[in-house]
Amino acid sequence: MNGATQRRRAPSVPPAVVLADSADLPGLSQLLSGAIPRCSPLTVSDLPWSWPGYVLVRSDDRPVAAGSLQPNPDLSYEVRGLVVDETAQGQGLGRRVMDHLVATADRRGADLVCVTRVPQFFARFGFMETTPDWLPPQRRGPDFDRAERVAMRRAPRGVAA
Ligand SMILES: CC(C)(COP(=O)(O)OP(=O)(O)OC[C@H]1O[C@@H](n2cnc3c(N)ncnc32)[C@H](O)[C@@H]1OP(=O)(O)O)[C@@H](O)C(=O)NCCC(=O)NCCS
Repeated sequence: MNGATQRRRAPSVPPAVVLADSADLPGLSQLLSGAIPRCSPLTVSDLPWSWPGYVLVRSDDRPVAAGSLQPNPDLSYEVRGLVVDETAQGQGLGRRVMDHLVATADRRGADLVCVTRVPQFFARFGFMETTPDWLPPQRRGPDFDRAERVAMRRAPRGVAA
């Protein structure tokens, strides 16, 4: 290999955000479990039925970033399981996953809600603090308060035709 070939680099392609499939379930569970308590244990135990709502970024066939939209009875979606592996944080993956989730909600004309310990991160995507009235009763109780989480909501934005 000569010097010119060595200097040639592959073009940097942003990592793809893809829909999760059932084979991702063990890796997804490991990723989310590693983020407890920032990620609620309930989010991990819900995975057997909530995983189809997830999108993720894979590295070496393993999910390193993930997030999901879970439908609520009022037709809003809750963002759950937004996690980037510790070794991959600060590289824009959280933003890529959130951009994907927000764009999906905007296309559907749906409100987004979340319960989070990182409200400043969600505020970057247009979420504003709210009361957690939309939470099911079992998630509104002492566990919610103890975990020092903030409930937030975001209205959909128009999508250019
Ligand atoms: C919060 C989290 C998802 C961010 O993912 P990330 O890949 O590290 O973030 P990014 O590199 O995409 O950062 C995008 C932007 O958000 C900012 N940001 C990152 N973490 C932030 C935080 N905790 N608070 C406020 N802003 C934050 C970055 O500075 C960056 O800003 P810029 O675009 O102006 O440069 C990630 O740190 C994480 O998984 N944390 C542990 C789990 C967790 O708390 N999840 C939320 C549960 S609801």
